[in-house]
Amino acid sequence: MVKVLFVCLGNICRSPTAEGVFRKLLAEHGMDSGIEVDSAGTHAYHIDEPPDHRAVQAAAYREIDLTQLRGRQATLEDFDNFDYLLAMDEDNRRHMLSIAPADHAHKVRLLMEFASGFSEREVPDPYWGGTSGFDRVLDMIEDAARGLLDDIRTRYPL
Ligand code: 4NP
Repeated sequence: MVKVLFVCLGNICRSPTAEGVFRKLLAEHGMDSGIEVDSAGTHAYHIDEPPDHRAVQAAAYREIDLTQLRGRQATLEDFDNFDYLLAMDEDNRRHMLSIAPADHAHKVRLLMEFASGFSEREVPDPYWGGTSGFDRVLDMIEDAARGLLDDIRTRYPL
């Protein structure tokens, strides 16, 4: 079982979006049984809350259901439990590296390292902006998710 954790600041916009996008991609490839997916925030502001309604709506337009997801904060156990801890931006990555046990630090990467159609290496925080920001987040994450799946298939015999 390969385990992937998506990480942003609040776990209500970008990382639940990434979780939903990646789950859908896995289902489309019939690979949902071999890969476990979760998301978490670096901060505790939105624990147990559903995703931001703008993220839910933007995802729903692409037939991705985020309504069952709930916010949680990343924990030290996550470094043991997951093979990939994928940060949405440099702040998130730095935060995760600051708490990572040294032998697990190599698992912490930027999600956009796996993108091929975007040169940006950070998924911009859409929280303070308009609804179009959520569509752009989806575009970027959908691209990176395909690259991530390719990476997993290369590294693991699933
Ligand atoms: P996220 O977006 O990290 O993509 O979930 C944010 C959500 C909440 C806040 C900031 C960013 N906040 O400051 O509460």
